Amino acid sequence: MDFLGRYPATRMRRNRRDDWNRRLVAENTLSAADFILPIFVAEGQGLRQPVASMPGVDRVSVDLLSEVVADVAELKIPAIVIFPEVDPASKTPDAREACNPDNLVCRAIRTVKADYPDIGVICDAALDPFNSDGHDGLLVDGHILNDETVEILCRQSVVQAEAGCDVIAPSDMMDGRVAQIRSALDDTGHETVRIMSYAAKFASAFYGPFRDAIGTEAALKGDKKTYQMDYANSDEALREVALDIDEGADMVMVKPGMPYLDIIQRVKDSFGVPTFAYQVSGEYAMLKGAVANGWLDNDRVVLESLTAFKRAGADGILTYMAVEAARLLKDA
Ligand code: PBG
Repeated sequence: MDFLGRYPATRMRRNRRDDWNRRLVAENTLSAADFILPIFVAEGQGLRQPVASMPGVDRVSVDLLSEVVADVAELKIPAIVIFPEVDPASKTPDAREACNPDNLVCRAIRTVKADYPDIGVICDAALDPFNSDGHDGLLVDGHILNDETVEILCRQSVVQAEAGCDVIAPSDMMDGRVAQIRSALDDTGHETVRIMSYAAKFASAFYGPFRDAIGTEAALKGDKKTYQMDYANSDEALREVALDIDEGADMVMVKPGMPYLDIIQRVKDSFGVPTFAYQVSGEYAMLKGAVANGWLDNDRVVLESLTAFKRAGADGILTYMAVEAARLLKDA
């Protein structure tokens, strides 16, 4: 950068003096088009059940799902992610319910696509909601099997694509799954279905409230450190992302979000591909918990926390705050 002169000729505060001027020199902006709303669906009828550790977030039954999606459509939020709270009676060690074309996720996909065909629908490829062990892969003799898990993920992805899912988001962190899912989709005529890979997903304590929401925390045996990344690492995240791009990922994601802004920036700078950040359940709980105590101002932290992702280089953000943030931006 050229030397621009010094005080008193240079006064950085001039451009901050007035609101119009601050808006004019803003380097990053946030809009509803940046957001993806994760939604928890549950079995039952007429159910809208608050998630205790995520104030303001509910689990909804499929018959009420379109009510939630109505806000998404009205606010022009491009896409949603559907996460199922599966009946424990349907969970098995082989997670076979993941590949049932009438499972909760598939019913939810069909409902949204029938009512709102123009909303993008994203679903995880991972076994945890269906696995009685709570893991994203098959647990056998204390180890998570890689290649056997990937085979199931391929079938799960195809089943979800047949139900109308637009984007498969492998969140399992098995090796080689993006390439295999890509060819499974292509072989079944789903070459337009996109893959948004959870490319750099860290083993994180910030997923706790999510696991409460879909009922996997109680079931989980051990931790996920043999497949999710060590939070001490950054170069390794770039390798993970490079592999997923090479295997055919259309979009990549970094998760969690706020404690990993450095990773988002490195990924975007290094690869220049569509890069997403997931502001996860624990980040939401942390901010909303402080708001509930009167320690933080809700509207201001919502917009500041989301703008941070744009500044780091993210093209979009998966956030439980999508609807309220889009409303705030509309009213601004
Ligand atoms: C499961 C999955 C998790 C999240 C998204 N998909 C939890 C986990 O890996 O244990 C976390 C999302 C959040 O915390 O908001 N594969």
